[in-house]
Amino acid sequence: MASVATPDPGAYWDRVYATRAPDEVSWFQRDPRLSLSMIDATGAGPDEPVIDIGGGASTLVDALLAAGHRAVTVLDISDKALVAARTRLGARAERVAWIVADVTRWRPDASYAVWHDRAAFHFLTDAGDRTAYLAALRTALRPRGAAIIAAFAADGPERCSGLPVRRYSPDMLAGEIGPEFRLIETADEDHVTPAGVRQHFMFCRFRRD
Ligand SMILES: C[S@@+](CC[C@H](N)C(=O)[O-])C[C@H]1O[C@@H](n2cnc3c(N)ncnc32)[C@H](O)[C@@H]1O
Repeated sequence: MASVATPDPGAYWDRVYATRAPDEVSWFQRDPRLSLSMIDATGAGPDEPVIDIGGGASTLVDALLAAGHRAVTVLDISDKALVAARTRLGARAERVAWIVADVTRWRPDASYAVWHDRAAFHFLTDAGDRTAYLAALRTALRPRGAAIIAAFAADGPERCSGLPVRRYSPDMLAGEIGPEFRLIETADEDHVTPAGVRQHFMFCRFRRD
């Protein structure tokens, strides 16, 4: 497969989702309970907007709808990933806003109470891309909003889906996201891939001042 420097990352990810079923990819989780519990912990009400960045075909959107959230957005660079999620949801997909975009080029036109990202930020190995991502976060997130970012931990895998990743400790991520965000909660998760491989993730929940 192409390297991270591919000129068309959307096509790269579309190929990933075209060649593997959503429940076969290494990051698949049947029950995204840690994400859901961290979103619950923000205290966001059912009508407060929640966005899942790089949500792909994750079942988090199903869980959020089941928990009563009525303002859910899923953004991903891969149209194919979002089609898979919409197909799974059927009529419930109409209750969700879907955005096909590269988060590093996205110009948000709404504001969100919760920004959630599991395993998208860690692909940004280029400092300019991380700056662009964090600019989108600052534009999109309300004052006192919550940012939940999950990435491979410092001792996690060096690659994901054929691409190099940047691994994080909570301190490293807090330094990256900047002083206007307060680190409220961290958690570790040993994710077990469908092939039975353990991957160490760390989750951070920040609150914007
Ligand atoms: C490892 S998967 C994680 C998917 C989902 N968050 C989950 O936990 O199941 C990474 C996702 O990020 C998306 N992605 C990668 N780079 C992106 C970018 N620059 N902008 C938006 N989405 C991106 C991919 O298409 C893919 O769906």
